[in-house]
Amino acid sequence: MIHSLSRLGAFTAIAFAFAAPAAFAQSDDELLELGREVFLEHAEPACGLCHTLADAETEGGIGPILDDLQPSTDQVRLAVTLGVGPMQPYTELSEEEIEALAFYVATVTGGTISEKDAEAAE
Ligand code: HEC
Repeated sequence: MIHSLSRLGAFTAIAFAFAAPAAFAQSDDELLELGREVFLEHAEPACGLCHTLADAETEGGIGPILDDLQPSTDQVRLAVTLGVGPMQPYTELSEEEIEALAFYVATVTGGTISEKDAEAAE
């Protein structure tokens, strides 16, 4: 009995290991490139309209300067999916675009990359 249970556990662990990164099977560089495109082009209105971000060469002055804020991937994802203050939620962006955007902004500003996002970028 104990034997079969532990085998089930091992199977579940393996299934998870394969399932998680498969959704975003991209290299770091590809994810960063997509994230920069989302920041500059896909997001409507563009993030740079309101935010300064050195890497994207934007100088918006309505929202916080992202280089100073150094938001974590989780912080970017929350702000973009739920909105914050005058910033509207971005309902048109795909999960993949938001993932790339969060990874990009956190990486170029030195914000914290959550474990889950680090795995997705492998
Ligand atoms: C219309 C202007 C505007 C646009 C466009 C905009 N933002 Fe913002 N953003 C703001 C303002 C203002 C705040 C501060 C809100 C507050 O703290 O009440 C903010 C806050 C944030 C924060 C910090 C959230 C926190 O946890 O404090 C992040 C990260 C962020 N924006 C990222 C983005 C990204 C990425 C985009 C593009 C997808 C974007 N913003 C587009 C105005 C904007």
